[in-house]
Amino acid sequence: MTSQLFSPITIGQLPLPHRVAMAPLTRSRAGQPGNVPNAMNVEYYRQRASAALIITEATQISQQGQGYAWTPGIYTAEQVEGWRAVANAVHAAGGRIFLQLWHVGRVSHPSFQPGGALPVAPSALPVPGKTFIVDADGNGVWGDIPTPQALTVEGIAAIVHDYRVAARNAMDAGMDGVEIHAGNGYLLDQFINSESNHRTDAYGGSIENRARLLLEVVAAVTSEIGAEHVGVRLTPMGRFMGMGDAAPEATFPHIARRLNDASLAYLHLVEPAMVGTVKDEAADPRWDAIMRRMRAEFRGVLMLAGGYDGASAERAIADGRADIVAFGRPFIANPDLPRRLKTSAALNIPNPETFFGGTAAGYTDYPALA
Ligand SMILES: Cc1cc2nc3c(=O)[nH]c(=O)nc-3n(C[C@H](O)[C@H](O)[C@H](O)COP(=O)(O)O)c2cc1C
Repeated sequence: MTSQLFSPITIGQLPLPHRVAMAPLTRSRAGQPGNVPNAMNVEYYRQRASAALIITEATQISQQGQGYAWTPGIYTAEQVEGWRAVANAVHAAGGRIFLQLWHVGRVSHPSFQPGGALPVAPSALPVPGKTFIVDADGNGVWGDIPTPQALTVEGIAAIVHDYRVAARNAMDAGMDGVEIHAGNGYLLDQFINSESNHRTDAYGGSIENRARLLLEVVAAVTSEIGAEHVGVRLTPMGRFMGMGDAAPEATFPHIARRLNDASLAYLHLVEPAMVGTVKDEAADPRWDAIMRRMRAEFRGVLMLAGGYDGASAERAIADGRADIVAFGRPFIANPDLPRRLKTSAALNIPNPETFFGGTAAGYTDYPALA
């Protein structure tokens, strides 16, 4: 049987030679000071240019959007230059790359916030979880997340503007497009899920209202750089960082339907049990039906991620559940993952101890096949 995983597909106007994408992966190794992509980051992405599409690690759109130590940004001139070197290297190696746009919302710490302010959120609710901060000696340590401040309507408008500028910056840096990160318990997800959004204004309450910020961000970004350059990532039913929705079977298909109006390059969904860095719980039994509803509602290209191997990815495409499959941890350990999957070669095993922060060890030293 001919492989469908290794058949071409076009997203927006960008032809991809196959369907094995690299999922967005935070590695917390941006150059300091300034969270600027450096030569080691360039080499890491260059090594992985055989992906159908690289989606970069989540990249903060503003200082306010940062929640973890040493993650890169896309809001200063130095960061744009740093990303330009990444995009150039990936293109020179024959690859394609979208930059993932990130605002963490409440998953942050005053030490990252302008003026040491409290992190921002839809509602001032406590956050179950910790974030990775830098202590006085410059070491990374896990820190408690304080109860955030609820955003004003003016604060929300400023964030939509920041997304627009960040998308423009990404294109100026030579990216092929951007992926709007609307999952994993970060700002846009915090608005979507009823558990974290207790607002009573136009951004809370009904499904329409809870989806409003995402749709405003999508409208701003697509009008700025063109819808064919924009993807959206959602993690329906993910529980990471206190997410939860009263009616996910209504909320997420609604979003998939509303995103049709935008004519996006793709919609990217993550299997709910795999949203965090570990498989922390069994998938909700409602997920399969929700995923199929979203597939039916969304008329564009659909990407799936979360726990795939070559065989299950091939099946997902053959069964029509997905058009593209993104791989996370396998791409950390296998810079030449598409070739290995295509030839059924053995895979290197990723080492979780070097996922976040550190040096080239566990980052650029995983071997490719000879
Ligand atoms: C080290 C690590 C960092 C991650 N960083 C991000 C990120 O920046 N943005 C994002 O949307 N997902 C992130 N994820 C989730 C992955 O994109 C992916 O959905 C998850 O790892 C499941 O896919 P896999 O089973 O192929 O690894 C991260 C996962 C890992 C393991």
